[in-house]
Amino acid sequence: MSKIETVVDWLLSSNKTVVLTGAGMSTESGVPDFRSASGWWTKTDPQKVATVDALETNYPLFHEFYSMRIQLLEKCAPHKGHYILADWEKKGILHHLATQNVDGFHSQAGNKKVDELHGSIYTFRCHSCGKSATKEAFLAMESCAHCNGRLRPNVVLFGEMLPDKAWMSALSNIQRADVVIVIGTSLEVYPVNQLPMMTKGKKVYINKEMVSHATYFDCILEGKAKEVLMELNEQLEKRG
Ligand code: APR
Repeated sequence: MSKIETVVDWLLSSNKTVVLTGAGMSTESGVPDFRSASGWWTKTDPQKVATVDALETNYPLFHEFYSMRIQLLEKCAPHKGHYILADWEKKGILHHLATQNVDGFHSQAGNKKVDELHGSIYTFRCHSCGKSATKEAFLAMESCAHCNGRLRPNVVLFGEMLPDKAWMSALSNIQRADVVIVIGTSLEVYPVNQLPMMTKGKKVYINKEMVSHATYFDCILEGKAKEVLMELNEQLEKRG
């Protein structure tokens, strides 16, 4: 039996399937990931743009990095793989989705049960007083209308706590899952990289490159997210 058929068997007999995604889920939409050869962190030092220190001590560079990512995302859209996952939720094949991605593509494609573990790049707040702010105000580099503080996107910066509700939801769903499918993440970043090990269920890893610590997965499907999801979907449809 092929690996694809094995995973399809697991999906069809699972009462609770959870998907966990990373930046590799969106590269086929034209959005760079972080640690691949063409990733953001090969060109920019994350310490200089994705930390609170960067926000507080070098706001122009922080602002430029996130403005550029926001403008790039305006030209990108979910791909077939995102739509397959949304279809699986509608069909009761997928029960919950957690993502490290801030691009909102899973919700845009139609998934309703989505935990955004690293926040969203589409909403903004004042870093000082926490009051919400608009994208236009952030892009125009305006100060907070309430306290004159610096505006930032609601993404989790390195060293910051993850949103508690999203974390607890992802953790409890993964702990109770029969199948966890991890797609397009290097599993380099704590604490999300701990989640796959929290399940008692079958663990599947779909990734373009193999990473050393992927050995604890029950099945590894090496390949591109969209292509592998299309193969799985084709087999699922054959099984009716
Ligand atoms: N299909 C499958 N895998 C892919 C694809 C693709 N089309 N494109 C890239 N990949 C793989 C890469 O080989 C890499 O192993 O996806 C993985 C992406 O890993 P990272 O770039 O490290 O992204 P991610 O794991 O999501 O990073 C986690 O780090 O910088 C922070 O907050 C940021 O959420 C991000 C977190």
